[in-house]
Amino acid sequence: DTTVTVTPATLDFTAVPKNRNDLVTVPAGYTVTVLYRMGDPINASTPAFANDGSDSNFSTRAGDQHDGMSFFGLAATGATRDPSSSTRGLLALNHENIVETYLHPRGQTTTGGVRPEAEAIKEIEAHGVSVVEVTRGASAWSYVQASSLNRRITPNTPMVFNGPARGDVQLRTLYSKDGTQGRGTINNCANGAMPWGTYATAEENWAGYFRRDRGDAAVRTAAGRAKENTSLARYGIGEGRAGNYGWTTVTPADSSSTIFRKWNATATADAAPDGTADFRHEPFQYGWIVEIDPYNPQSTPRKRTALGRMNHEGVEPGRMIAGVKPAFYMGDDAQNEYIYKFVSNTPWTAADANAADRLATGDKYLDAGTLYVAKFNADGSGQWLPLTFNTGPLTSANATYPFADQADVLINCRIAADLVGATPMDRPEWTAVNPANGEMYCTLTNNSSRSPARTDAANPRSYVDPRTDGRSNSAGNVNGHVVRLRENGDTTEATAFTWDVYAFGAGSDLNKDNINLSGLDDTNDFSSPDGLWFSLPSNVAGQGANPVMWLQTDDGAFTDVTNNQMLAAIPGRVGDGGTKTVNNSTPAGTSTATTRVGKAPGATLKRFLVGPKECEITGITSTPDGKALFVNIQHPGETGGPDNITSNWPATQNGAAAPSSRPRSATIVITRQDGGLVGI
Ligand code: FEO
Ligand code: CA
Ligand code: CA
Ligand code: CA
Repeated sequence: DTTVTVTPATLDFTAVPKNRNDLVTVPAGYTVTVLYRMGDPINASTPAFANDGSDSNFSTRAGDQHDGMSFFGLAATGATRDPSSSTRGLLALNHENIVETYLHPRGQTTTGGVRPEAEAIKEIEAHGVSVVEVTRGASAWSYVQASSLNRRITPNTPMVFNGPARGDVQLRTLYSKDGTQGRGTINNCANGAMPWGTYATAEENWAGYFRRDRGDAAVRTAAGRAKENTSLARYGIGEGRAGNYGWTTVTPADSSSTIFRKWNATATADAAPDGTADFRHEPFQYGWIVEIDPYNPQSTPRKRTALGRMNHEGVEPGRMIAGVKPAFYMGDDAQNEYIYKFVSNTPWTAADANAADRLATGDKYLDAGTLYVAKFNADGSGQWLPLTFNTGPLTSANATYPFADQADVLINCRIAADLVGATPMDRPEWTAVNPANGEMYCTLTNNSSRSPARTDAANPRSYVDPRTDGRSNSAGNVNGHVVRLRENGDTTEATAFTWDVYAFGAGSDLNKDNINLSGLDDTNDFSSPDGLWFSLPSNVAGQGANPVMWLQTDDGAFTDVTNNQMLAAIPGRVGDGGTKTVNNSTPAGTSTATTRVGKAPGATLKRFLVGPKECEITGITSTPDGKALFVNIQHPGETGGPDNITSNWPATQNGAAAPSSRPRSATIVITRQDGGLVGI
């Protein structure tokens, strides 16, 4: 039996009230330290951040919009890994996107439809990933500005492709004519810490950055590659798109530079049909899980194609059991997309947790295996359906999309998942695994397109937000829910599972029969669950390990009541709450759905943190001793601009802030004033 013996902990804090303050609020007895802000320099020679739009050099500063994050322990000195260290380590974190307006003195500049090169460089480099050394001093945590281990990975950083799609024709571009290399990573959302000491980052809303002019589809069809049009459409890249931020309009001073041009996926009529003469295939180079060795700043990140191409939200390893093939759970965050797991071909060897060559260990576990997609049945059972070439409909004879090989299945795994009959979900965001029992949780953040006619047992709600606060996302599954599953036989190798809904998001004042189905109260009501992670702090009293689940929100439907928040939970088990019938009603129709629910959480779910104005709470990790919790505050004040600043955080965190102080995404660290475990 591999189940960890657990003495159930209780949540040892008083719930934070919902609020709309411009501040991170935590329970009494806890301290918030602002650790690593957008623009903070990561080497000795980069000047302090002026935060007035004049700064440049984002390749040596913290990027914007901090998201998924993991802590990697370091020995007391040098670059040696020490997974047990709780005093010195590397934080690897994503910079998902930018709040463009605050990056420049007066917001974006465009002259005659053309973006200035310097602005575009700043915007590009503010995306990507940071690796930054952090240490616990006598009184507080800080980041080490001059550490030689600090690194920025940007949308320009060279990468290699690994796994079955390496070298595939769809990955060939002018930059990499053999389809084995790529440049950069973008819109990095959630993450995963691989058990051998690497950081995995997920490319989510990459499609939005691409320009595709009208006429492109006809060129591809004439070149004999009409399938690419089917694929681009399925991934949201139709014709007539300019691409986010207009980077392709830049005329670079160095005319040989292609860092702007590569975002234009339009096929040129006289170029090579295999894509080696232009950037038509650049969209296929994105949408992957990327593995980074945080301990080696010179290492080249590897795009792991065996894990499929989608709007990757994150990648969470299941429990690692010697002799058992490990699983990695992933959400594809878009409306009515799917939940996936990758099962390695290679059973786990415990010694690999301390392997010297970490990326080679990634090759061993992440380059060969089976990608599955989830089907949820009404009776509380479910199947993992394999996305394997020549299995079921995934053949070269398929009329919808004739697959060429396994690489084609992985590059187009959304199309493959459609064909095998996976269950469309209410926007799968983070996945998390309970280390005590292996149960997998996935946040389904909300889905405005879930009509009553399309509800099912696993996505059972469709209603109109009774608060009618004028937000666009006010119908469908307004507040989201958290689904969880238990693998048959409690093994990562399982191809079937049972499931229930851990909790439904809702305001505590809403109808308990049809909306507030989990009976949330004033201490734990939430909406739009997104970030999700289990910590496993050892109990100081020697009672074993206590998994705590941390739930973060990214919401527009509840922000008339509270800023976004983070809750702590001590969850139960799949199947502990029985069944419930939901009666849905919107102007579009009515439906009834019977679903499986978890036990009402009550005092086992409690609000731990409320963020500043207009932020999202996303990204969480902890020291292994459970005494320092790192959390990211993303895009405070995002609707404002230089002339209309709508948040002054993080300057507000230590007292009064100047009204002219621009908001910055930042990593905070939360510690308990008595030095104890955070949360329990
Ligand atoms: Fe970047 Fe789905 O959140
Ligand atoms: Ca976000
Ligand atoms: Ca998210
Ligand atoms: Ca979200």
